[in-house]
Amino acid sequence: MELSQLQINNVRNLQQVKLQGLQKVNVFYGPNGAGKTSILEAIHLLGMARSFRGSSVKPLITHGCDDCTVFGSISASSPGGPTSRLALGVQRSASGEVQIKVAGKAVRTAAQLVEHLPLQTINADSFDLLTGAPQARRRYLDWGVFHVEHRFYSQWQRFQRCIKQRNNLLRHGKMSDTELAVWTRDLAVSGTAIGEYRQAYFAELKPQFLDIIETLAPELKGLDLRYRQGWEKNTPYEDALAISLGVDRERGYTHVGPQRADIKVTIDARPAAEVLSRGQQKLVVCAMKLAQGQLMSARGKGRCTYLVDDLRSELDEHHSKLVCGLLSTMQVQVFVTSIARDDVCSVWPKSDGLEVFHVEHGQVKPEGNCPSP
Ligand SMILES: Nc1ncnc2c1ncn2[C@@H]1O[C@H](COP(=O)(O)OP(=O)(O)OP(=O)(O)O)[C@@H](O)[C@H]1O
Ligand SMILES: [Mg+2]
Repeated sequence: MELSQLQINNVRNLQQVKLQGLQKVNVFYGPNGAGKTSILEAIHLLGMARSFRGSSVKPLITHGCDDCTVFGSISASSPGGPTSRLALGVQRSASGEVQIKVAGKAVRTAAQLVEHLPLQTINADSFDLLTGAPQARRRYLDWGVFHVEHRFYSQWQRFQRCIKQRNNLLRHGKMSDTELAVWTRDLAVSGTAIGEYRQAYFAELKPQFLDIIETLAPELKGLDLRYRQGWEKNTPYEDALAISLGVDRERGYTHVGPQRADIKVTIDARPAAEVLSRGQQKLVVCAMKLAQGQLMSARGKGRCTYLVDDLRSELDEHHSKLVCGLLSTMQVQVFVTSIARDDVCSVWPKSDGLEVFHVEHGQVKPEGNCPSP
């Protein structure tokens, strides 16, 4: 699965950009404020129907315009077989409307879109995985579970519905015990399922991560990832809910469960965010994201597409080469930005041809192949 064409309308400073003949590795270079990150934002919008950052789409729409649209064509080819194409389209308006089309047909939810163009982003916000709140790590984990375990999403939806209802009842304090018990029972079932899916996924992810970090930063030997499910270990979720009922009533919300899960990233038992340098943090974040892509391919769920903003920031030449080398061996499609053309060309493995685009003032010009020197 590869994005072969892209048409962007009114995404930040990209008013009308058409890109054809996209390749496996696509490099966008140009000065500050040119529109490089905006191209990655547009691809993100096409794959996820939302922005890199948060849920607000307004900042993404070109000032003075009512909406933005991105169309893309995805081609999938099997060895020796014909190439099939799939058209995707996303329109977001300032008033909040979302229109998503897959193969020309309108679909209702973003979940129906994301499976067609699974995206991994490596940008300045990715440091949240180490330094941010647990929510960033839960989102990371759930991205992976969603793409390898298709039963996860319905349980996740069910859990969200239940916890909302249960918290509503707890907050208003006027519920009957029977009413609360109904939601608690349902919450226990979906919460247990979510916990099991996450646990199983994490068990596969961790060795992939440790393998990659061994390649990228062998000096970070004491690095470890641990999954915390969000309630007492070795206790069934149903029992954890029963134990916490009194406190839940008192505080007016459900305070144990998968909504409290986290991944602890430590080095020699200390929080990695406190110990690691910024460059080392970027390597850990890259390893976490690359591990998910590798796992997805290993599970036969296809290859994800990587959006790497400002590849060279924080990384020295040696480590940039290691990251690029891994992306290259994974055979994934990559969209990468940098300030200078040579920033990427000089560190990418020579065996790959890179398609280079120059970006300036919201205009994107193809410059052809860039063989590494
Ligand atoms: N809603 C908007 N409408 C129009 N222009 C916008 C909007 N939001 C941001 N911009 C402008 O779009 C331009 C491109 O921003 P972008 O983040 O893509 O730049 P960049 O090439 O990634 O730069 P850098 O190298 O600094 O990261 C900037 O000049 C920015 O001010
Ligand atoms: Mg940028």
